[in-house]
Amino acid sequence: MKVLFACTELYPLLKTGGLADVATALPTALQAEGNEVRRLLPAFAALQAGVEIKGPALALSGQGGPALLGEMQPAPRLLLGRLVSTGEPLYLLDAPALFHRPGGPYLDPDGREWADNAERFALLSWAAAWLALGGDPAWQPDVLHAHDWHTGLAPLYLHLSHAQPCPPTVFTVHNLAYQGLFPLKAGLHLGLPPSVLQVTGAEFHGQLSFMKAGLQYAQAITTVSPRYAVEITTPEQGCGLDGVLRAHQGQLHGILNGVDYAVWNPATDPRIEHRYDASHLAGKALNKQALQRQFGLTARSDALVFGVVSRLSEQKGLHLLHEVLDELVAQGGQLVVQGTGDPGLVDALQQAAARHPGEVGLHLVYDEPTAHRIVAGSDVLLVPSRYEPCGLTQLYAMGYGTLPLVHAVGGLADTVTDASLENLDDGTASGFMFDEFTSAAMARAVRRAFALHRRPTDWTAAQRNAMALRFDWQHAAQAYQSLFSTLIPRAPAP
Ligand code: ADP
Ligand code: GLC
Repeated sequence: MKVLFACTELYPLLKTGGLADVATALPTALQAEGNEVRRLLPAFAALQAGVEIKGPALALSGQGGPALLGEMQPAPRLLLGRLVSTGEPLYLLDAPALFHRPGGPYLDPDGREWADNAERFALLSWAAAWLALGGDPAWQPDVLHAHDWHTGLAPLYLHLSHAQPCPPTVFTVHNLAYQGLFPLKAGLHLGLPPSVLQVTGAEFHGQLSFMKAGLQYAQAITTVSPRYAVEITTPEQGCGLDGVLRAHQGQLHGILNGVDYAVWNPATDPRIEHRYDASHLAGKALNKQALQRQFGLTARSDALVFGVVSRLSEQKGLHLLHEVLDELVAQGGQLVVQGTGDPGLVDALQQAAARHPGEVGLHLVYDEPTAHRIVAGSDVLLVPSRYEPCGLTQLYAMGYGTLPLVHAVGGLADTVTDASLENLDDGTASGFMFDEFTSAAMARAVRRAFALHRRPTDWTAAQRNAMALRFDWQHAAQAYQSLFSTLIPRAPAP
């Protein structure tokens, strides 16, 4: 079947988080299953740099879209191109006034939301709907697969088109906390009639919610782990949308993300100094030494090295780390942290590094190669997230024999098996898990990591268990494909 995959990031060209990894790997895996997939993204400069444009641009035209569609000069258009790296076809939404800017895809260089984000992502959503309805006469998708709030208006625009037949939309929530909230009256400039700016439509506590639009008007909703799919239907984790999600429970599915083993594999990874596999773990010890050197840590082979590769945001629970850090060092541990984000957390980490020279090392930037070196060289990867829709770094860590230490939520709970005595005995232990979201509970998990490390045979067994796990994208792609087929009454055989 033909799938239009609408999103905003694509590894390695433009990435702020795991969505970029998914947007690269999942369409490729869907293609391997025999589907034809085309991505649609805004023509951000970083993306355009990796795309070879093929053929003439498509002029966006039609009724009922955002007002700026008819106002912008030059008029927005769609470019059909191919990824230089893989040759895969994709559409870029070319609207330089909206997407050619310094700063990030969502935030300006000072870290503030772009003031016109409603218009920017409404246009992306509208372009997705337009393509779904046959805007490109040469390629009409059977299904629209839209990702996160940035594309949340796409199923609403399809609904408003009253087109018959109308391709179904699957809306995937990667993070319910980012909702795309704007003043309700902005909706009128986006071509949304008052009838859908109601509580039964896209209205959310007096505002317009792109996320809620996606949830209300898509034919199916997915999120990125089975556990998170349940959690978001509760008031604790529902970010105010749990009622909407409960109302759509029959259409809500949790499909676990995968790992791109072409990128994250210690046996082939060109970004690490020493390659290794489960039968040759000596290479891992050499990567640990290299990591200690890179981060200016004391070269102690017996030190338990804890790593963090993360956005430094409220979601990631790193204030718990801050509270257990002194104890972790006092027990003989070392810590390396790579991340960018919250200035308060950056400040606290810098103070900790100053208190513990040679034991705590920081790299407060976005750096892909060093992320691989931390995953390979650490003994334990810390992911104490308050909530985690899926989480990819714990999956990467397990493949590298680095035991994740995680809070038991969302995708973390679905993928890590705690190194309890019974799980060690069963040969399933693959990391450390704490239930209560408190620094005391995390500190106990840290102590258990030290205790297991003093039992080298058990430690190595847990490493091998973790390395034997497979989180293949093929599995996820098959789950999406069967979901798509249930929505398309007479889907052509792939
Ligand atoms: P989220 O999408 O919530 O940030 P995930 O665990 O799903 O969390 O994905 C995070 C992705 O971003 C991983 O590929 C991780 O390696 C990467 N990442 C996060 N911070 C950095 C950083 N500072 N440098 C390099 N990669 C990073
Ligand atoms: C979001 C989530 C993360 C997930 C990623 C990819 O950024 O925070 O848990 O792994 O999307 O789906």
